[in-house]
Amino acid sequence: MLQDRNILHDAKPQFAVIADQHVADLHLRTLLGALPAGVRAFTFPPGETSKSLPATMGLYDQLAAGRFERSGVIIAFGGGVAGDLAGFIAATWQRGVRFVQVPTTLLAAVDASVGGKTGVNLSAGKNLVGAFHQPIAVIIDTDFLTTLPDRDFRAGLAETVKQAAIRDPGFLVWHEAHAELLAARHPETIETLISRNCALKAEIVALDERESGLRAILNYGHTIGHALEHLLEYELRHGECVALGMLVENEIAARRGELSRVEADRIRALLSRLGLPLQLPRPVAATEVTAACRTDKKVRDQAINFVLLHAIGQPWQTADVTDAEIAAAMAVVQP
Ligand SMILES: NC(=O)c1ccc[n+]([C@@H]2O[C@H](COP(=O)([O-])OP(=O)(O)OC[C@H]3O[C@@H](n4cnc5c(N)ncnc54)[C@H](O)[C@@H]3O)[C@@H](O)[C@H]2O)c1
Ligand SMILES: [Zn+2]
Repeated sequence: MLQDRNILHDAKPQFAVIADQHVADLHLRTLLGALPAGVRAFTFPPGETSKSLPATMGLYDQLAAGRFERSGVIIAFGGGVAGDLAGFIAATWQRGVRFVQVPTTLLAAVDASVGGKTGVNLSAGKNLVGAFHQPIAVIIDTDFLTTLPDRDFRAGLAETVKQAAIRDPGFLVWHEAHAELLAARHPETIETLISRNCALKAEIVALDERESGLRAILNYGHTIGHALEHLLEYELRHGECVALGMLVENEIAARRGELSRVEADRIRALLSRLGLPLQLPRPVAATEVTAACRTDKKVRDQAINFVLLHAIGQPWQTADVTDAEIAAAMAVVQP
C-alpha cells in the first residue's frame, strides 16, 4: 500500500534502511534492488530486546557516521520491532525526518505500520518512550511474508481479530468464514485481510490520531496482553499475548454480565481455529499481572484502564476493574 508513490522518484533524497538483521539476510537485496544505488543499510539484532534506548543510540551513531541528513528518508524494514525502532529514530533524528514503513510480518502489515506510533521499551515496561510520527508511505509487499514462520504469521491474526471485534462485526464473521484459508495462508485471502484491516485501522486513527478518545479502543486485549508480554520476558509473541489478553478481558466482561458468554466463546473459538494460544506456557501469578498492569502507559491516577466489550463491535473504556476481578479472570488462561 503506497500512499505516496512519488517519494521513491522525487528529488533523489538520501535513504537509510534500518532493518532487522534476520529480515536483511532474507530480503535486503530485493529491497535495495528497488531503490536508487548507494543506499546505506543499518541492521539490528532481531527481537523485542532491540526496541531499546541502547539500540537506538547505536543506530544514531551509525547515522551520524554516515552523515545522514535532515532531508533524508529512513526506511523501516522488518516487523513491528523495526517499525517502532526505526520510526522512533526517524521521529527524533535531527528533530524528525521522513520515514517509510516496509513491514515484513503480518502483525506489522496489519497493525504496527499504520497509525504513526513509534517507540522503544524500558526495563520498567513496554513502549514507555516514544513519539507519534506518521510514515509518508507504507509499502506492503506480501512476497516478503512468505518466509515468515507460521507462529509469527498467526500472531498477526490476533490483531486483525482484535480490530474486527472492536469495530466491525461483519469483518469478524468474515474471519469465521475464512478461518481455515487464513490459517493456511491463502494468498488472496491474506491480501483481502490486509487491505480490509488497514482501512479499518486507518479510519480509527484518522478520527483520533493522538489517542485522546476513540483510538484507545485499539488497546482491547492489550492491558493484560502487555502485562503478560513483559512478565513472560518476551517468550511469547506480541500477538500471542494479545490473544490471551482478549480472553482474560472478555472473561472480566462476561463475569460482569456485560458481554454474553456466546460472544466471548465465539472469539475464543475463532482464536483457537486460527492457531493462537488459549493458555499461558507457564502459570503467572495474578498479583504480578496487576502490578505489571500498573506500570503500563494506560494507567492514569493508578487506575488501570481497560477496553471491554459490551458486544462484538461495541467496546467501552473503564478504569474500575478491581484486582480481584483480574485475578478471577486470569484463571481462564492459566495452564
Ligand atoms: N506501533 C504500533 O502501533 C504497534 C502496533 C502493534 C504492535 N507493535 C509492536 O510490534 C512489535 C511486534 O511486531 P512483530 O510481531 O512484527 O515482531 P518482530 O518485529 O520482532 O518480528 C517477529 C520475528 O519475525 C522475524 N521476521 C520478520 N519478518 C520476517 C520475514 N518476512 N520472514 C522471516 N522472518 C521474519 C523477525 O526477525 C522476528 O524474529 C512489538 O514490539 C509491538 O509492541 C506496534
Ligand atoms: Zn498490538
